[in-house]
Amino acid sequence: MENGIAETPVMEVEGNNARLAIMELANMISVPMSLNAVVRLKVADAMWQNGKNTPLTASEILSRILPPRTGDPENLQRILRMLASYHVFNEHITSQDASERRYSLTDVGKTLVTDENGLSYGSYVLQHHQDELMKAWPLVHEAVVDSSTEPFVKANGGETAYGVYGKKPEMNDLMLRAMSGVAVPVMKAVLDGYDGFDGVERLVDVGGSAGDCLRMIVDKYCHIKEGVNFDLPEVVAKAPKINGVTHVGGDMFKSIPKGDAVFMKWILTTWTDDEVKQIMINCFEAIPVGGKLIACEPVLPGHTDDSHRTRALLEGDIFVMTIYRAKGKHRTEEEYRELGKLAGFTSFRAIYLDYFYTLLEYQK
Ligand SMILES: C[S@@+](CC[C@H](N)C(=O)[O-])C[C@H]1O[C@@H](n2cnc3c(N)ncnc32)[C@H](O)[C@@H]1O
Repeated sequence: MENGIAETPVMEVEGNNARLAIMELANMISVPMSLNAVVRLKVADAMWQNGKNTPLTASEILSRILPPRTGDPENLQRILRMLASYHVFNEHITSQDASERRYSLTDVGKTLVTDENGLSYGSYVLQHHQDELMKAWPLVHEAVVDSSTEPFVKANGGETAYGVYGKKPEMNDLMLRAMSGVAVPVMKAVLDGYDGFDGVERLVDVGGSAGDCLRMIVDKYCHIKEGVNFDLPEVVAKAPKINGVTHVGGDMFKSIPKGDAVFMKWILTTWTDDEVKQIMINCFEAIPVGGKLIACEPVLPGHTDDSHRTRALLEGDIFVMTIYRAKGKHRTEEEYRELGKLAGFTSFRAIYLDYFYTLLEYQK
């Protein structure tokens, strides 16, 4: 008995667990698509109510997101209930017969609430489920058959993901918002635990998107006289003005602006080993002897298990393979150490501060 509801006993029949597990996997698409639906419907903001987070029925939530007497509360409840099983929502059953179900946000659900700066993880969810990206997913097997072209490229008439973002302003804008929504909370953790920016006066953020990482670093370290936010021209064209930060458009495969140190977050992962080596060589050339490259990247554990961390990292790896580069990948600490050596860096250390990203510090 749980919450007063009698559970139907299940007979222990050989293979039951395996059949159940494969059914769960086969139906798994319901999870990200329902998550995308709650973000599109702005459910988290409707539930949060300035921090009250009072458990609400689906009808009550619906009345906050749609015009009166419209929408289907039963279907919203079906989505909330399924996502409660993934700890996005708490489910509160108050009546004996479970006829009334109420929902509140868990800590996971709270990451979807828009903050005072208009940011949340919601934009990242939306970014991943745009039509152009979704078209690539039925072609994952193609990355095995022929890894010379990305599934995204095959599905989008020969265009790369960054090529398409560059041509479609709404995709470019969403990418900027998605990066900001993820970067700000992660950078808080990084800046609390890492002191490697000490002594730097000119810092270059390669692929810095809207400049959020750099803004936070420059705010904390007053000795940084200039931050250079370096990204593709169409990206920096949309970046907001930030005190102490200059936006510079360019291509990191050609050259990188000079600085005492180079920072980059979520860049190397996207590219092949040869491309990473080229980016690292360009970083090496941009800094003086003794200068640092500080990269913040997802780093794979050596062993495979079913923890949230391992799964989030392995799932991100398949995302990179499908969308950005068929031979771009999440790498292990050892693989990153070796790539740094090939680019000429003399020392390396990895610092684990965040569960998803690891700081990789290379010295020239
Ligand atoms: C995954 S995003 C990371 C953004 C930001 N560093 C963060 O973590 O929030 C990768 C960034 O690399 C930029 N980028 C892609 N190709 C680039 C190139 N050739 N030169 C410079 N930046 C590039 C993209 O525009 C994008 O902003």
